Parts: sequence; C-alpha cells; structure tokens
Amino acid sequence: MTANSELIQAALAVRQRAHAKYSNFLVGAALLAADGKIYNGCNVENSSYGLTICAERAAVFTAVAAGQRNFQLLAVATAGGGSPCGACRQVLAGLAPNLPTLLVDVDDSAKTVEVNLRDLLPRAFTLNLEP
Ligand code: THU
Repeated sequence: MTANSELIQAALAVRQRAHAKYSNFLVGAALLAADGKIYNGCNVENSSYGLTICAERAAVFTAVAAGQRNFQLLAVATAGGGSPCGACRQVLAGLAPNLPTLLVDVDDSAKTVEVNLRDLLPRAFTLNLEP
C-alpha cells in the first residue's frame, strides 16, 4: 500500500468513530509524522455545541502529545471531500504551514484531491516575538 492510500484508509477508519450525534457529519483525520507514524482524530461533538472538537485538531493534538513536531501529510475524510475549517487550518499552520493535505470523499476515495495548507490559509496569523 502506498503512503497516501494507507493514510486515506486510516482517515476513513477513524471517521467511523466520530461522535457526531448533533450534526451527523462524521469527519476522520489521519496525520503522517516525519518518522512515518500515523496519528488519528475524529470529531467529537457535545450538547454544548461550541465545545465540539474537529477531527483535524484532535489528530494534531494527539500527535503533539506523543512528542511529534514534524509532519509530512494529512488526510481528511468526509462525505463530499470537504476542506478543513479555518480554525483547524490555523492550528495546523502553527506546526506545518506547507502541509500537503488529501481531501477524501468517503463515497469515492479515487476522487481524492491534494491541496497544500499554504494555499488553504495564505498569510496565516503568526506572533512576531522579535523586539
Ligand atoms: N468538523 C470537523 O471535524 N472538521 C472540520 O474541518 C470542519 C467541521 C466537524 C465539526 C462538527 O462536529 C461537524 O464537523 C459539523 O460541523
């Protein structure tokens, strides 16, 4: 299996674990670290809607907690092959501003589209800490 198809399969699999009882919109994300390990995340919704966490942020937070800082590829699986939301783009850009990202349509993963985070979020916010 190629690296891309393994990551796509991981995103499709973790999407099945999404807790999306309010929107019924399941999202799976799989993030490939530089060392070849894969970190998965799914959206987890809450009755207090604003507390919902997106799949992409769940994946990146899990990876960071495991000690990862360098990433080579992200796959996001949704019905329709949608793009990460703005909040997730900003969080991902903080660690991997040039991250290649596979947008996977769960109904036809052959339709997968590759985009780059720098095109999804041009001029991301950064803190300039220099005096
Ligand atoms: N969602 C994600 O998991 N990732 C995104 O990039 C956009 C939205 C989730 C949040 C919520 O559980 C559901 O999709 C509908 O917005």
